[in-house]
Amino acid sequence: MKKKYVVSSLIIGCALLVGFQVAQDLGLHLLQSPGAVVKDYVEPDYGLGSGHVDSLKPFPKIKKGERTPFDLWNYAGKGKSSFMDPNLPMEWNEWLAFHNEQKPQLMKDIRTYMDSRYDFNGETYDEQYMSGGRKAIMKGPIARLPKGISSYEQLAKKTPEEIKQKDLFPFKPLAHPLASTAHMVFPDSWNLAHPEHLRIDLDHDYPDEYLPEFPPPMFLTTHKELGDVTKGKEITLSNYYEIFNGLLTPEQMEGLKELLRPTPTTWFNQTTHRVTPEPSAGVACFSCHVNGHTNAAFELSPDSRPHMARLRVGTPSMRGNYNLLQLSSKRSIRSMDHFAEIEEYFDGDPGMMQHIGPRGHQKSVANRMGDFNAMLDFPPAPKLGPMGNLIPEKASKQELYGEKLFNGKAQCVKCHYGPAFVDDYMHDLKVERFYKGRPEGPIKTFPLRGIKDSPPYLHDDRLPTLDDTVEFFNLVLELDLTKEEKEALTAYMMCL
Ligand code: HEC
Ligand code: HEC
Repeated sequence: MKKKYVVSSLIIGCALLVGFQVAQDLGLHLLQSPGAVVKDYVEPDYGLGSGHVDSLKPFPKIKKGERTPFDLWNYAGKGKSSFMDPNLPMEWNEWLAFHNEQKPQLMKDIRTYMDSRYDFNGETYDEQYMSGGRKAIMKGPIARLPKGISSYEQLAKKTPEEIKQKDLFPFKPLAHPLASTAHMVFPDSWNLAHPEHLRIDLDHDYPDEYLPEFPPPMFLTTHKELGDVTKGKEITLSNYYEIFNGLLTPEQMEGLKELLRPTPTTWFNQTTHRVTPEPSAGVACFSCHVNGHTNAAFELSPDSRPHMARLRVGTPSMRGNYNLLQLSSKRSIRSMDHFAEIEEYFDGDPGMMQHIGPRGHQKSVANRMGDFNAMLDFPPAPKLGPMGNLIPEKASKQELYGEKLFNGKAQCVKCHYGPAFVDDYMHDLKVERFYKGRPEGPIKTFPLRGIKDSPPYLHDDRLPTLDDTVEFFNLVLELDLTKEEKEALTAYMMCL
């Protein structure tokens, strides 16, 4: 019996070997595992070189720190790698010298570019202030009209095709002005209080008067009677205990502390891979979301590659996040604790942790950060009743007219409704109908409660004032509103 088995195993073995050899000779790699190399993959053209009128330019091949085009939405393509390299392209001393030389000209060109897009004339609304009562609301629209067009009403008469063809759109995207390094750029008011965040390579591109008040007030769902809990101060790791002890639960205290505790990030850390002259402890959640609101620091969205394709994102307020189910403009993150856990201090590249040092929050700690975030309330809106409608005795005629338009002809209410004036969906506004460039795709709706406190507007800060947002939606939704109607909408939004 045994002998029979041995003989038949030998015969089968030989047959397999011969078969394998024959198959290989015939070029049939039948017995090999599938290769990691895809030989018959046909690359798409990524929107490049198709000869189509809309074809885009290939992303520039640029080293870290080198200047990038201000109109990056005109570019497309695939990067060399999804992963980041933690090393500088040169020695630290050369890096410092390189930026010492580049920064003055870069900042000059950024100011010229911003001035070519916006008329920062410093005009304010009379008697209209942000919730802290110190900073005036800026008047717009200040996005410049194209040559040959004398008014926004005249522009709005044109079709999207004509606006695109003749390059007339005043609201094109805004890119990170140094996308090769990118990362967080803080406004001047913040840098003054936190010189450790002053960068060697660039500063914020907006004049401070067009940014939120600093420090902004903080309102808690659990202590409405206190009004602004901060009494005009920036909450920091050194004063939070004194201010909040006896008002918060122990868990909330810990959540707040962790939101205030700086940790290393991709470009603000103790290694030479950084953009500050001196190493620092890094950046805290509240370095951008100061007092649970925003100081208009901007960053790149962590959600995509290649690096150059990443959209600029302005810091949204944390106020009223308890009413939202969609967090982040593109990633649709569904809870604040998850956000606290994953917030991309490392540009979404976990490999960088080895070099820079991990944040390493445990889930329980991230939960507490989320819990504190969930108590940050919108600022008071004394003109709104419990259903979110204007109280007629408290509102002006113009504001009431604005409310009527918002809920009627202007159709804003289709996406901005309920207690936070938001629908919690992502919408593709298809803005690329109006300009040549890479389409931006769906973006989440942002709440309009407390909106007067958080300029500049849209995910990438391209709209400096509320008036610019009205002109933007008037064009994009093809509403054909009159000047009076548009002014009434702005007046209404300042009540929310
Ligand atoms: C660069 C400064 C910066 C820092 C530091 C920062 N954020 Fe943010 N935060 C942003 C930006 C920019 C966005 C918008 C991201 C997007 O749209 O994808 C954002 C979005 C959010 C959102 C979603 C808000 C919304 O309306 O969709 C939450 C929640 C949040 N951050 C929490 C945190 C927490 C928690 C930390 C600390 C772990 C933190 N952030 C640190 C800038 C910052
Ligand atoms: C089809 C849905 C939709 C309609 C209708 C709509 N919006 Fe929006 N709104 C959005 C989306 C989506 C965003 C975010 C877009 C982005 O960041 O690119 C937004 C953003 C805004 C912002 C900026 C919010 C911020 O925090 O930066 C303002 C202000 C605004 N809308 C006002 C209006 C007004 C006024 C109207 C009516 C004239 C209107 N919206 C109509 C979907 C809509």
